[in-house]
Parts: sequence; C-alpha cells; structure tokens
Amino acid sequence: MVSKDHKSLVEVTNLSVKFRTKDLVISAVDNISFSIQKSEIFALVGESGSGKSVTALSLLRLNELSNGYISSGKIIFSPSDDIQYDLSSADNKLMQEVRGNEISMIFQEPMTSLNPSLSIGTQISEVFVEHQKLSHTESKIKTFEMLKKVRIPEPEKQYNLYPHQFSGGMRQRVMIAMALSCKPKLLIADEPTTALDVTIQKQILNLIKDLQEEIEMSVLFITHDMGIVAEISDRVAVMYKGKIVEYGKTSEIFQMPKDAYTRRLINSVPRLGSMRGKNEPEKFDIL
Ligand SMILES: Nc1ncnc2c1ncn2[C@@H]1O[C@H](COP(=O)(O)OP(=O)(O)OP(=O)(O)O)[C@@H](O)[C@H]1O
Ligand SMILES: [Mg+2]
Repeated sequence: MVSKDHKSLVEVTNLSVKFRTKDLVISAVDNISFSIQKSEIFALVGESGSGKSVTALSLLRLNELSNGYISSGKIIFSPSDDIQYDLSSADNKLMQEVRGNEISMIFQEPMTSLNPSLSIGTQISEVFVEHQKLSHTESKIKTFEMLKKVRIPEPEKQYNLYPHQFSGGMRQRVMIAMALSCKPKLLIADEPTTALDVTIQKQILNLIKDLQEEIEMSVLFITHDMGIVAEISDRVAVMYKGKIVEYGKTSEIFQMPKDAYTRRLINSVPRLGSMRGKNEPEKFDIL
C-alpha cells in the first residue's frame, strides 16, 4: 500500500537508475529519495554528471530511449487527491498521457526542440489541436492567450515569426508557452537559463516563478548554480555522484549546510552586488 500524503505531488523513494552499455552497466542514480510538494519550486542542484537530468527524465521514463532503466524504487505521482500512480512501473499508455498532459519539460536549448521551418504560432497551436482536439480557430485564440501569458508582446504579430527570428530568451518563452499549454501539474525545467545572458536569465526565472504561482503548478528546477537555487526554490536536493547528499528547505540549507560539497557549492556563488568597486566578487562566508 502506498501511504497518502496529500501535499506531495511526486514522491520518489529509493530510486536507482542504470544504463546498459555494450559491455558494462553504469549506475547513474543511486538510491535517492525526495518529494515534490504541490505548488512548490523544488531544485535539483549538482555538478555536471551528478545525475540531475537522469533523475528528471526518470519521472517521464525517457531514459528508456537510451538504454536506461529503473533498477529499484518507486515514483508515486498524485495528480489529484484520489488518483495515484507509480510512474516507475506504469504502462506506455499511461506514460503517454502523463507526458502529454500532466508533466511537461523544458530544456537548455529551445532551438533543438523547435521546428525551424514552422512559425512559432503554428507550433504552439499544434499542441492544442493534437492534445486538446481544438479547432484551428480555437487553437489560434488559445495560442494568443499563451503568448500573452509568457509576456510576449503583440502576440498577433509574433504568431507568424519563425524561431530564428526570435532571441534566445524569447525562444525559451515560446517553449514555456508550449509546455504550459496543457496546464501541467509539474513543469520540469532542466537548466532552462544556462544558455542565456544574465539579464535575460533573470527575466526567465521571474517568469517561471510568476507562472508557477498563477497556474499553481509545481516546478522541478535543475541547475548547477547555487545562486539560482537561492533565487527560485522553496526546497532543494543537492546531488553528488548519483546520490542526494543534502535535502531540505533552501533557506535552511543556505544558513546551515551540513554537507561539505554543499558548502563548496555555496561558497562558489558570488555575493550579489559585491563587485562594486572591486576586482573580485565577494563569496558567501560559510566555511
Ligand atoms: N544514455 C546514457 N548512457 C550511459 N550513461 C549515461 C546516459 N545518460 C547519462 N549517463 C550517465 O549518468 C550520469 C548522470 O548524467 P546526467 O545527465 O544525469 O548528469 P547531469 O547532472 O544532468 O549533468 P549536466 O549538468 O552536465 O547536465 C553521468 O555519469 C552520465 O555519464
Ligand atoms: Mg543535465
């Protein structure tokens, strides 16, 4: 029996993920447990190769496309109070429903997910035609609404533009519009601002934060940057070599990190505004 915790949207318990390669099995995620609460921004942070993306992709069971498999654990998803399923063992039909409607994902480089030969309006409205079976006219109206929602000005004009006519930040807004068009319960954002410059990065973070509140969805936000963790997340799990080494409220972990690796990550974040009149940014003083 699965215990019912009405606040958890996702409850991951003892999850391990492995990859089968030609002559060996690689362990990417090793016995991790965490939960994502309803209407919170939960961050996964850690250095490259620590297992952040593999963890996120396991919620959508997308590691299976590259010879990955869940070797142990449960992923209990509770989209409403009376519905619960274990995504680690759900069948394909259910997973397709979850991927299309309940959990959406955005990535670092929107250009790889957008079709260069279709206007952005056409691409967003296709989501409505396919997933919600709306007519073309209704889909167009919904697309204008979504473009407004992600604060793209003059949506009627932007509708007919192609991805290459947009800046990186605007393209990420388009991806967010597509991801949110099905009103997901969970948005997974895997390093969505890493390729953007600092000012645009900040705008996209603010947008995700605002939309999370407006839509009352949960966000799983992946980053290697503790500064972003501090800025955006309610709670955080710090990953190191496939394991979670620290887990809890973001504010408490910044005040009193228990793990040496977390302290190192925090110490590498420049203090905001500390460069004024100096050559080097000041670092957090925790160690
Ligand atoms: N398809 C795959 N086949 C084999 N090993 C993989 C595969 N995908 C990931 N891994 C391994 O799993 C580990 C975790 O990878 P993952 O992509 O989750 O890291 P990450 O924390 O997201 O890193 P980054 O910050 O660089 O995106 C790595 O050691 C990686 O080599
Ligand atoms: Mg990654």
